Amino acid sequence: MTAMAHAVEIKDLHKSFGELEVLKGIDFTVDQGQVVCVIGPSGSGKSTLLRCVNLLEQPTKGTVRVGGVELTDPDVDIDAARRRLGMVFQSFNLFPHMTALQNVMIAQRRVLKRGSGEAERVARANLEKVGVADKCDVYPAQLSGGQQQRVAIARALAMDPDLMLFDEPTSALDPELVGDVLSVMRDLARDGMTMLVVTHEMGFAREVADRVVFMDGGVIVEEGPADQVIGDPRHARTRTFLSRVLDPTHAGDEPGAGSAPADAGPGS
Ligand SMILES: Nc1ncnc2c1ncn2[C@@H]1O[C@H](COP(=O)(O)OP(=O)(O)O)[C@@H](O)[C@H]1O
Ligand SMILES: [Mg+2]
Repeated sequence: MTAMAHAVEIKDLHKSFGELEVLKGIDFTVDQGQVVCVIGPSGSGKSTLLRCVNLLEQPTKGTVRVGGVELTDPDVDIDAARRRLGMVFQSFNLFPHMTALQNVMIAQRRVLKRGSGEAERVARANLEKVGVADKCDVYPAQLSGGQQQRVAIARALAMDPDLMLFDEPTSALDPELVGDVLSVMRDLARDGMTMLVVTHEMGFAREVADRVVFMDGGVIVEEGPADQVIGDPRHARTRTFLSRVLDPTHAGDEPGAGSAPADAGPGS
């Protein structure tokens, strides 16, 4: 590990499921304190990419380094390495039989072996940070989707991660609840958290991301500063995708371009 290590460094990453090659050689880096948004059509491999970064999936080929530690090294202490990553999914995955506070305490207690006093203090501080301090004693079923997702973010933050991974964190939310979650993510970015975010929220990406990566068909088609990739994309595939996302009423305007928009695969 050197002082110059990238927060995330992905080299020639390939992932196949049987005959299906989903990631076909992905290279990119995220620097400390940067926010990188990954955009692209359904089925392009975005979730698989994030799942390879925290080794929920074992890459077929290539290397993943986080904070200079090679996660793809067979000798790495994967539990220790994974502890430094926070992951937030589209579905919130809170324990239904635990209060918000208990949900944020449990991994601190079990994984970090924190005492209950410290775990509770950290949990309360993070629930306050995401704006649901008044919901500590409430069960997930009594919370809106936006509140549940903010509890899930607090749960990840309570583990003191070096890097936060988000996989379409607002896609399951009613439109009026999206803004609250994005605002928490914007605050995190402003506080200097390193973030890798799969999202269809182009306004958020343009405002918050340092760089945007556009994926299609298991490759990175283009990447660059958010303003350039979203505002002035170089590639036709990026333009086609953006025109569909930014104005869904024109989804069928460009015949033969891009991949099928519907039919989301597993985990998408
Ligand atoms: N565990 C799996 N087994 C088999 N195929 C998978 C698995 N996970 C994802 N896929 C396939 O990989 C492709 C990319 O999926 P995914 O990474 O979820 O894309 P995205 O998140 O961009 O929508 C899809 O064709 C999907 O069906
Ligand atoms: Mg996905």
